[in-house]
Amino acid sequence: MNTFERLSVAFMDEEHEEFVDQLNSIEVLLNGEATDDEVDAALVKLIQHTREHFGHEEEQMAAINFPPYVPHKREHDRVLEGMEAMMARWQDTRDVAWLQGQITNLWKWFEIHLDTMDRVTAHFIARSGNT
Ligand SMILES: [Fe+2]
Repeated sequence: MNTFERLSVAFMDEEHEEFVDQLNSIEVLLNGEATDDEVDAALVKLIQHTREHFGHEEEQMAAINFPPYVPHKREHDRVLEGMEAMMARWQDTRDVAWLQGQITNLWKWFEIHLDTMDRVTAHFIARSGNT
């Protein structure tokens, strides 16, 4: 069970909490007796939620003319593409150990992203009063 560090912007914390809950649920599914369909549904939900979560951050960054908008959005796009590729490969191979490794990588990515790009973004959003 992993958790996350809170920032100073409520909508970001709420969406990060949801992301963490979903990653935890996928790990539980992969460690248990879940069917492929259940794992597929959880991954679809995760990708959809992540797309919305990234979209909200991007809207806020655009609204306050946040200078590092472009690299932050580029990073979001790269991660979403990676998640789509993860889903496709999982559906091709049904390799649970490989997918578990991918989820571990997502945890590592999230921890670093939260501590760098999201932290700076939250600071700017909070200072703008646009929360
Ligand atoms: Fe972000």
